[in-house]
Order: sequence, then structure tokens, then C-alpha cells
Amino acid sequence: MNDAGSGAMLARLSEKSRHDHYNPYTRFSWPDEVPEDSWWMTPEYLTTHGTGLVEDERILKALARRETVNFFSLHVHGIRELMIGVSKRIHTPDFADYNEYLHHFLGEENAHMWFFAEFCYRYAGGIYPEAYSPVRGEGFGPAWEDVVVFARILIFEEIFDYFNSRLGKSAEIPAILREIHAVHHHDESRHVAFGKQLLKHLYARACEQDQAGPERRLEIENYIKSYMTYSVRSLYSPHAYRDSGMPKALETRRAAMTHPVREAFHSKVMARVDRFFVAAGIFQTAWGVGNDVSK
Ligand SMILES: [Fe+2]
Ligand SMILES: [Fe+2]
Repeated sequence: MNDAGSGAMLARLSEKSRHDHYNPYTRFSWPDEVPEDSWWMTPEYLTTHGTGLVEDERILKALARRETVNFFSLHVHGIRELMIGVSKRIHTPDFADYNEYLHHFLGEENAHMWFFAEFCYRYAGGIYPEAYSPVRGEGFGPAWEDVVVFARILIFEEIFDYFNSRLGKSAEIPAILREIHAVHHHDESRHVAFGKQLLKHLYARACEQDQAGPERRLEIENYIKSYMTYSVRSLYSPHAYRDSGMPKALETRRAAMTHPVREAFHSKVMARVDRFFVAAGIFQTAWGVGNDVSK
């Protein structure tokens, strides 16, 4: 199923996973508390950044705490769904060449889910509940559903990585948070490399098997784009806005989400994965600039 190049890549990634393996339960030294007067997220990564909608530093710090909880909760809920998708496929004939790496993927995601939830329960009263997702991606037939599952994983991981790779180096945030972001970024760089390779293979296979042709490909492209829009929107949590204590929380959230500065930021967060979809021939046009997440 693989060509020689991707077989070698899978072997290399599995070897790296084995080499970098750690015990998540002993990996972090959890402090007794995380000071509330510190920035839990660097201000430039708050969803109100650049909009001028909120200026009060006390509220912005509270928003940074609540958006950290939202961000970690998104991983917990998102990865549960994706682990179900991977668990359904591992050790089935179509994924035979990927079994070894999928074991690493599941093991690593199980660890991530634990430490993101652990942070929220220890310091912030728990995680936020899962938001209803209108973007289900079912009914495309098995080969396309494989594409959809791994496209969702890739989008999700790329969004996380945008923040993890930056916050993992931020001197402004408490050490435990910096470390969580850095550890996650380290594992995810392997997942993203793997995901791109696998997705290209699955897409080629689905195109080959499917008689529906360009209409179906467009349907898949539109589905993936709506998942990208949905994912960006999920960064703007109504819970986080309300719990930050800001006045007119939901109105402010709406205004932030559709602010032109934020739309440009969304394109930046998505740029790498958007480019991949175009280069891989999965998108005919980029999700790109001008996307309106309010729709
Ligand atoms: Fe993860
Ligand atoms: Fe991952």
C-alpha cells in the first residue's frame, strides 16, 4: 500500500516515538497553584487580541485563564472523537501498514488527553462541556469517511500546534503551562507529518475507488472547509467569555469572532494546513483569506 518512501517515513516516526516516549503521569511537576495574576496565555493569543473590544487587564487575565481551559477542553473532547476513529481502523486490512504508528498515536493522544484534563481539574475547576458539532461528516461511504476522519485530525492538530509551538516558548506564562504546550508540540510534530502522508494516500485511494468523480471531490472539499470554519469558531467559547466576567460577554464574543483583524488571524492559523490541502489536490481553492466564520 505504501511506496518505499512513506514506509521509511513511518518506520522513522515510530522509532522517534519509541525514543521520545515518556510517562505522562510523572513527566510534569505540578505546582500547588498557578497564580491568577499571571498571564495563562500571552495576551496576543487571546481571541479578543487586536480588536480593542476589551481593555481591562483584570478581565483579559481572567479571559486568558478561561481560554486556556477552553483550549485544553477542546483537545480532550476533540481527541476522544478522533481516537474513536483511529481505534475503529487500527488492525483492519486497509490500515495494515499503519498499525505500528497508530499504536503510538493512540498512546500519545491518551497521554495528552490526560494532562490537558489534569491541568483543568487541578487549577481551574474542570473542563468545559463538549459543544454540539453540526459538522458530522457521515454518509460519504467508507473510503471517503477515512479521508474525513484523518482530515479532521490534521486540522485539529495544526490549530493546536500553532498555539503550542508559540506558547511553549513564552517566558510570560507560568512554567507548568509552558511545559504542557512544549511537550504537546513535540509529540504533535510527528503526528502532523504522519497525518499528511496518510491523508494523501487515503485521498488517492478514495478517488480511485469512487465512481462519483469531481462532484464528490467538491463535496469533500466543502465538508473539510466547513470543519475548518467550525474549528476556528470553537476557539471563541461562550463559556470562557461569560466566565471572564466581562460585560456583554456574548455580544463581545460575536464582535470579536467576525472582526477583520481576527479573520486575518484565522487565515494565519490555518495557512499551513490550507496550503497542504491545495498542494495535495484535495482543495481546488484555498479556504484562505476572506473566510467568514460567522456563517
Ligand atoms: Fe495531542
Ligand atoms: Fe496528535
